[in-house]
Amino acid sequence: MASSLDTLLSQGIEELRLALDEAALRTWQTRWFGKTGEISQSLKRIAQIPAAERPEYGQKANAVKEHLQAAHDAALLVLQDNTLENDLAKGGIDITLPGRRSSPGRLHPSTQTLRKILGIFGELGFEPFTSHEVEEDEVNFGLLNMPAHHPARDMWDTFHTTRPGWILRTHTSPGQIHAMRRAAPGPLRVVLPGMCYRYEQITSRSEIMFHQVEGLAVGEKVHLTDLKGTLLAFIQRLFGDKRKIRLRSSYFPFTEPSMEVDMDCILCLGKGCGLCKKTGWLEILGAGMVHPTVLKNGGYDPETHSGFAFGLGVERIVMLLSGMDDIRHFWANDWRFLKQF
Ligand code: DAH
Repeated sequence: MASSLDTLLSQGIEELRLALDEAALRTWQTRWFGKTGEISQSLKRIAQIPAAERPEYGQKANAVKEHLQAAHDAALLVLQDNTLENDLAKGGIDITLPGRRSSPGRLHPSTQTLRKILGIFGELGFEPFTSHEVEEDEVNFGLLNMPAHHPARDMWDTFHTTRPGWILRTHTSPGQIHAMRRAAPGPLRVVLPGMCYRYEQITSRSEIMFHQVEGLAVGEKVHLTDLKGTLLAFIQRLFGDKRKIRLRSSYFPFTEPSMEVDMDCILCLGKGCGLCKKTGWLEILGAGMVHPTVLKNGGYDPETHSGFAFGLGVERIVMLLSGMDDIRHFWANDWRFLKQF
């Protein structure tokens, strides 16, 4: 009986030698180690063996089983090694190829330009001041010289919140009040960046949300010429030192006098083209001398102090710098658009 185990072992080894790929090895494994395979058959045969010989038979049968399993595992390793060698020899893997570059995120074009703008004003001595996007109606309008029912409120269509008296700020100008109240009666030179919201029809030229940068300087001797010089320096740093500006009379309730600031068209250099609607000028921002009432609301004495202020739209600047013609791209989250910046 024990000699039949020797035959079994040599037969198993022989068949293993003929298994030349992993599929053949799996077939071998089932044939020898499956539920009804040769090994379990030979273990079952122990019942027919005279009791005296059983321990010896059992030990031997187990030794054969272990031997065959080890031979199988070794054969599998060799096969796997060979497969890898072959793949490498075929050139399937070129380990000298550079890895695939992962694509990290990048800053949104508005953020890039916002930072550039803040950088320029930083050089000019303006420090950033962060105000809030949810604002009191009283600060967004009232303290900026627009009491309830003032007709000028119509210039800003407003998103209201469920909390009475609180709105989404329609411009960054209410931040002026917070900045002045913190600094008064000392001198103040700040830029206030941030998102603003307006309840408007979305078109290629107007969005319901956009960034503004507000500027504010208050002191004992702040003049209109300081405003003009600051804005010219800013525009030349952003659009090139050949740029010219002009101030056009306008109206804002929180400044007196108020003005729109234009720069000569960057496309036709003032000759007149589609971008500047044949005027030769591009409207860049609103500005003015801080209204005495607003100075007072900010905690300054308008008899001794004066100030200038301005506000510009960041997306409009990005559009001018990049030649974009549709403001809706900004919040469409289209990667094809964003990755151009
Ligand atoms: N807040 C104005 C707007 O959103 C822009 C503006 C105009 C800001 C004149 C100013 C200013 O500080 O002096 O239309």
